[in-house]
Amino acid sequence: MTALREGPAEGEPSGETCEAPPLELRDVVKEYDSGVEVVRALKGIDFRIERGEFVSVVGPSGSGKSTMLNVLGLLDVPTSGEVLLDGRDVTTFTDRERTDARKRYVGFVFQSFYLIDSLTATENVTLPTVYDRDRDATARAERLLERVGLGDRLDHTPGQLSGGQKQRVAIARSLVNEPAVLLADEPTGNLDQETGRSVLSEFRRICDEEGVAVVTVTHDPLVADYADREVELVDGVLGGG
Ligand SMILES: Nc1ncnc2c1ncn2[C@@H]1O[C@H](COP(=O)(O)OP(=O)(O)O)[C@@H](O)[C@H]1O
Ligand SMILES: [Mg+2]
Repeated sequence: MTALREGPAEGEPSGETCEAPPLELRDVVKEYDSGVEVVRALKGIDFRIERGEFVSVVGPSGSGKSTMLNVLGLLDVPTSGEVLLDGRDVTTFTDRERTDARKRYVGFVFQSFYLIDSLTATENVTLPTVYDRDRDATARAERLLERVGLGDRLDHTPGQLSGGQKQRVAIARSLVNEPAVLLADEPTGNLDQETGRSVLSEFRRICDEEGVAVVTVTHDPLVADYADREVELVDGVLGGG
């Protein structure tokens, strides 16, 4: 499922991309320059995640977790350092190439679901595919919703679903383009403990059965029961794991 549909970049040996981890950061620095002051949010991060691995990033507020996730998810570019997606350094990509790579290889799940209230579960899941005019999208969305236990809720709108069900719709949506990597920022932040557990076991299943690499950023201590590895971010420096 995570096999890349593109060949290696020109001039790169194909063997390297086959064995490369889906996502790697090398000495990543991210600074925000407001004009008044420069905030160094990431101070030389080295990180890699393997296929099928579930890594939890923990750390206090303001330590750089969301910044790291944005860099991992190709939403933002680092000030310096390399971001390797399947062995290819995306910091050399144009904006358009990076957007395209993000659509193909990265799925996102957020604390507040971001579902569209007027659309059914199936329609919400197909949303990221509409620009590709993908005729298989509806069937794929229904399959994904069945796999996350919502086969009997396909035509329900978000208002007719519980918080846990909404997050599972969001997870199905994040998988619709068959990403290599799934990134989740506080995915259980709005859920009670039992519902949080059902969402976390869904991430575990996605790693084990689909080979997707999952990175969560969280304050939720429950995540430790499900993740392969925990790393801690403190003031822009990564430790542990
Ligand atoms: N867009 C921005 N402009 C300026 N500073 C920012 C911006 N985003 C984050 N920061 C700063 O970068 C640091 C890390 O923020 P963030 O990645 O949001 O941390 P966390 O998600 O762990 O709370 C903080 O000092 C924060 O104030
Ligand atoms: Mg944050």
